[in-house]
Amino acid sequence: MTETEPVAFPQDRTCPYHPPAAYAPLRATRPLSRVTLYDGRPAWLVTGRDTARALLADPRLSTDRNRDGFPAPTARFAAVKNRKTALLGVDDPEHRVQRRMTVPGFTLRRATEMRPRIQRIVDERIDAMIAQGPPAELVSAFALPVPSTVICTLLGVPYTDHDFFEGQSRRLLRGPKAEDVMEARDQLEEYFGELIDCKHKQPEPGDGMLDELVHRQLRDGELNREQLIAMAIILLVAGHETTANMISLGTYTLLQHPDRLAELRTDPALIPNAVEELMRMLSIADGLLRMALEDIEVAGTTIRAGDGIVFSTSVINRDEDVYADPDTLDWHRPARHHVAFGFGIHQCLGQNLARAELEIALRTLFDRLPALRLAAPADEIPFKPGDTIQGMLELPVTW
Ligand code: HEM
Repeated sequence: MTETEPVAFPQDRTCPYHPPAAYAPLRATRPLSRVTLYDGRPAWLVTGRDTARALLADPRLSTDRNRDGFPAPTARFAAVKNRKTALLGVDDPEHRVQRRMTVPGFTLRRATEMRPRIQRIVDERIDAMIAQGPPAELVSAFALPVPSTVICTLLGVPYTDHDFFEGQSRRLLRGPKAEDVMEARDQLEEYFGELIDCKHKQPEPGDGMLDELVHRQLRDGELNREQLIAMAIILLVAGHETTANMISLGTYTLLQHPDRLAELRTDPALIPNAVEELMRMLSIADGLLRMALEDIEVAGTTIRAGDGIVFSTSVINRDEDVYADPDTLDWHRPARHHVAFGFGIHQCLGQNLARAELEIALRTLFDRLPALRLAAPADEIPFKPGDTIQGMLELPVTW
């Protein structure tokens, strides 16, 4: 293949924590390459860190999926492209309004206040695993229920409904057919519609973030019911799926790097930076999407108005100009300026919460189960395909 021949995007990873081997030529042609999407449409793939940050901060890029020509990486994404997506699917000035409404629930202070609660949730899950005895399937026993319980607590969504919304989120992000995705979205809209109506009827708001939004924004007319439903869906789905994948893939990666794990056990003060380095290395949200609204000159190239732009966070976060020996885990490198939480106005709203959850979950898991190890050969454990958020499908462990 020549360097100018577009590769297909997305592709499956060959190792769950490295970018797909098929993207290797793109690393050589940084910072911008041409790729072909599933429907044959060409798009730009951004692979250099500085170009990524410049473009993600550029107001001439839109994230509004409802626009004609907005790039779709999969048929599944295309199926729900015309539905409302709050925050992540909205440009300024509307985005600024939605972000202002939600930021107070996700400040560093709120995440710090949540820590004892997160610790309790993590401990309860590990108690249950210990009571059950080894082996265990870590995704269903730990990686998924921890962030799912946390986001329910924060939003004021009853955790008793978790089978329903986890299942629908899974179909939304990974349903095999376009119809599954549309149906999952319908089901979530109906569920949140009822929950919001129910909260609206309460004379006083409960203590969840949705209660606050319902009582303040719906009452003051700042958000209508449809927007509030879209907001609830993104907060719930983004709030548990991503973190669950980071916990499962983070655990797998640590078990595959016993020296690095030993280093963390000896010096737990390294854990916050280790979480940052794992975020960089695993880059689980690998394919951020935008559309150019105007012609843009960047890195010696002209991106034309209407062109689709995809950001491969996994390749961007391995930029040799920024990270020495980028394919190696190093708890001592300054990893924090990765783009695994995005960059610019859409940078992850839940990053403080995610960091707190990851620090507590990984530290406690390896503290309380010091003999934790894989219960199957590493190369036989299934992981997610490249067209979704990356992570382990299952993680059989024993201790
Ligand atoms: C380790 C876990 C997480 C990862 C890897 C992650 C990753 C990301 C990324 C890459 C973006 C930017 C997408 C883009 O620009 O196209 C983003 C945005 C977002 N994330 Fe996260 N996220 C995580 C956890 C969370 C949590 C716990 C929440 C809680 C609700 C959350 C809520 C959001 C929201 C609402 C947005 C859209 C923000 C906006 O458009 O203003 N995320 N996330």
